[in-house]
Parts: sequence; C-alpha cells; structure tokens
Amino acid sequence: MPSPTIPRAFVVGHPIAHSRSPMLHGYWLRTLGLAGSYEMVDVPPEELDAFFASLRERGFVGGNITVPHKTAAMANVARIDDAARQIGAVNTIWLEDGDLVGGNTDAFGFLGNLDDRAPGWDKGAKTAVVLGAGGAARAASYGLLQRGFDVHLVNRTREHAETLATHFGARVHAHGWDELAGLLPQADLLVNTTSLGMLGKPPLDTDLSGLKSSAVVHDIVYVPLETGLLQAARTKGHRTVDGLGMLLHQAVAGFQHWFGVKPEVTSEVRAIIEQDIRAKTPGA
Ligand code: ATR
Repeated sequence: MPSPTIPRAFVVGHPIAHSRSPMLHGYWLRTLGLAGSYEMVDVPPEELDAFFASLRERGFVGGNITVPHKTAAMANVARIDDAARQIGAVNTIWLEDGDLVGGNTDAFGFLGNLDDRAPGWDKGAKTAVVLGAGGAARAASYGLLQRGFDVHLVNRTREHAETLATHFGARVHAHGWDELAGLLPQADLLVNTTSLGMLGKPPLDTDLSGLKSSAVVHDIVYVPLETGLLQAARTKGHRTVDGLGMLLHQAVAGFQHWFGVKPEVTSEVRAIIEQDIRAKTPGA
C-alpha cells in the first residue's frame, strides 16, 4: 500500500517509455531532499477514465498528461485554468481543496525557455511567425499574445491555421506555406512548432534569407538539440533557442503543486537531460 505521507505524482500517456519527465522530477526530488515519487503510467485511451477515478486511492496528488490524453483529460477534472481553456488541452493536474484541477503549463514553458535562452527576446518585438497549427502552436500563440505579439501562423493545411486564428482573435493570422517568404522580413521571432526536423521526420527546409539579423529563431523540437533550422539560423548569425528548455520550464508549476517547493531550471539539470538525449540519439 502506498504511504499517504509520501506524495506520488505521475506522467500518463500511451506510449510513455520515451518520457524524460521522470528523470527531471526525480532529479529535483533528490536534490531538494523531498520525499515523493514521480512515475510513468502507460494508460490506453479506453482506460483513461478508470485511471482518473483511481487516482486518490492510489495515493497520487497529481501529474502530467501527455499524448494522446491531453484533450480527453479535460473531461476528467473538476475545473481547468485559463491556459488549458484557451489552449484546449490539459498537461498538468493537481488537487486543490480536494478537487482535481487541470492546467496547461506549455505556454509558460515556451516563454520561460525564451526568457532563459534569449534574454530580451521580446523587448520591442512585435511580430512572430509560427510554423504549424497543432497543439504546440496553440500553446505558443497563447504565450505570445500575453507578451503583446501579433502571431502569423504558417501551416501546410491553411484551414487548421484559420481555426486557430478564429479561436484567438484579430491578432492571430492564418497563412499557407507559400506565404512564408513574404512574412519573414517582418518577423522578430520565427518558431517551428511542427514535427519537421525531429529525428526520424522529414527536414524543415526553409530559406531564411529574408529574416532580419535581429530575429530570434526557436525550434520546439529538442531531438536533435540542434535541428537543421537552428543550424541554418546560427550559421546566418541569428540568436537560436532549442526546445529542451520548454520541457524543463513547463515542469516547474506541476512540481510546485505536488511537492510544495518551486524547483529551479539550472544549467546542471539541463546538462543531465542533454546528456541523456545525446546518449540515446547519436548525432543529436
Ligand atoms: P502537436 O500537437 O505536437 O503540435 P500536431 O497537432 O500533430 O502536433 O501538429 C503537427 C503540426 O505539424 C501541424 O501543423 C501539421 O500540419 P497540418 O496541420 O497540415 O497537418 C504540421 N506537420 C506535420 N507534418 C508535416 C509535414 N510533413 N509538412 C508540413 N507540416 C507538417
């Protein structure tokens, strides 16, 4: 039987074996000297409701929700925060006065990563060009709107970008891929939120020649750590930000909810996860 005095947290997904969250939360628990655990739980979609129903009796105080459960989880919590409502997905749950609350910390992670790796990136900046229109683009758009950006979504399927633009309102604009070259000269920030460039996926071949030299280029992909997009941008002299920091920063709020202490994203913990990525993906 789990001890009620030791808080247990989880990451639930299907499949889940690839998750680096246990390494991250385990590191924080160890270095902060806290009693607690963070476990991977593989739950197929048809068993998700039963998993949520059993949380309390299993001693869980909350956890992370990952693919493919981020949307379905919304129906299993008593209430959701504004970020989860706007992004349309829950990635973190916790208990509040006995109720299960769902939140989304991806936008916080997205902004925290840029603040950390490209300080001042949003100072005087107004225009972001975001490649993609999936869940990650939703989180990025939500975060960028909070920092006062106009967001131009460029997507293979224009209708998907239009759906997001309609959802977020007048400061988010939809474009097809053929409009990218015309948008780049006004971009202060270029972000890839598609899976292109990820290990095992096709490369993202984009001509960056139209980008102004002050533009920051960010890829939310982090395997490999330096994607083709980032390599091309770095070669051209742009400040670049990889996607690993988003994973690290999105984890902070959950840890604080479950274990009562705000952990820090240090260069040491980043190096540990980086090393794991490099060890498991030669060439990364
Ligand atoms: P996530 O929730 O992680 O953002 P997703 O919802 O599957 O993932 O979104 C994937 C994004 O990558 C989408 O914008 C998708 O474009 P479509 O809306 O046209 O499907 C984009 N994407 C995936 N593979 C692509 C490819 N080969 N070329 C261009 N865009 C691609």
